[in-house]
Amino acid sequence: MKVLFLGDIVGRNARNLAQKKIAEFKTQLKLDAIIINVENSAGGFGVTPSICNDFFNAGADVLTTGNHIWDKREIISYISKSDRLLRPMNMIEGTPGLGMTIVRVNAGTIGVANVMTNLFMSRSDPVFDKVPLIIKHLKLTSNVDFSLIDVHGEASSEKMAIGFALDGKVSAVVGTHTHVPTADHQILENGTAYITDVGMSGDYNSIIGMNKNDALKRFMYPDEKKTRLEVSSGEPTLCGVVIETGTNGLSKSIIPLRFGGILEQTTLV
Ligand SMILES: [Fe+2]
Ligand SMILES: [Fe+2]
Repeated sequence: MKVLFLGDIVGRNARNLAQKKIAEFKTQLKLDAIIINVENSAGGFGVTPSICNDFFNAGADVLTTGNHIWDKREIISYISKSDRLLRPMNMIEGTPGLGMTIVRVNAGTIGVANVMTNLFMSRSDPVFDKVPLIIKHLKLTSNVDFSLIDVHGEASSEKMAIGFALDGKVSAVVGTHTHVPTADHQILENGTAYITDVGMSGDYNSIIGMNKNDALKRFMYPDEKKTRLEVSSGEPTLCGVVIETGTNGLSKSIIPLRFGGILEQTTLV
């Protein structure tokens, strides 16, 4: 299967560009599924029901999130009824919504899990405790043809450790949250595609997607009254990876996709 994963959508411009382009990417790149992290798609903070619907209507199959999932309160009732919008599965017992799902697409069945790491992140259950659950519920060539884990976290070491813990068990482990793409995309030794962070989909003339002057002021003058951070409004780059798997569900390739804006690559995948 061939699957596109796009990193954290930050704000309206990135959202509009992603929604406009994914149908084109689907045809052009012969994609079987599209998975998108949408945790910053509503003005940089959270996601709303109508934004989720727009992404699904545009062609997304599963949406993942992270620590910003609850920033817009109206998402609580929506996520409670959805099997395609995920929140990190290691949030405390009783949290609304799913952290793992299995959905059908034309080419087969895809399993997606969303976890949040523990170092330098808001409090959640130990992420490594979820590794056996993922292995148990998403079985390649058995109940899923493709599986992807969105590891939402700050520390590269922790994300790499999750990658190796799942190597050979899932199709792909992709990192999100730092909003900066890493260049370590690779197929791990047992066949799992891995990247520490796919990067945000947003304006890179910014500080992780937010207006750079406001963000800079906060660092330079920490004692002054904080101004509200606004999404940086320049041309966005869509950042993601395209993963291709073989008949055993393990990966043959992982190729970065960077479309539009400052980080655009001259050749599309
Ligand atoms: Fe994010
Ligand atoms: Fe995040």
